[in-house]
Amino acid sequence: MEIVKYSFQEHGDERGQLIALEESKEIPFAIRRVYYMYDTGEGVRRGFHSHRTLEQILICIHGSCRVLLDDGRERETVLLDKPCEGIYVGPDTWREMYDFSPDAVLLVLASQVYDENDYIRDYEKFMESVRDKM
Ligand code: TYD
Repeated sequence: MEIVKYSFQEHGDERGQLIALEESKEIPFAIRRVYYMYDTGEGVRRGFHSHRTLEQILICIHGSCRVLLDDGRERETVLLDKPCEGIYVGPDTWREMYDFSPDAVLLVLASQVYDENDYIRDYEKFMESVRDKM
């Protein structure tokens, strides 16, 4: 599977860096929710779900973490360790986040508000749902 990566433009000058993310510009959807994970314990692995319709951009804006993505055919992992880089994670993709550095802040921009009905939290059910679409 091909992971869609984004390199966001840094508006840097002698004062430091600034990145601006606008919906339908740098971000390919209207942003309806923002959340972030931090103080993630050592050895913690989280996520373990897919979404039926949700689109997301993940950016580790401080520190680093790894993301495993699985589309039902292949698994890929990606290291997020730069505030100017992000990945797109669309529907029908199982994700797990792990290897968080103690200072990691993982920012997520999402296309929908929180809806538990959009989650598939069982890996077998995830595989069934993607198999039905293959
Ligand atoms: P959880 O789904 O377990 O996080 P992940 O699977 O990404 O590791 O979410 C942790 C808690 O936060 C859970 O009680 C649901 C709540 N939550 C919200 O209220 N809104 C949100 O947008 C998200 C992502 C989670």
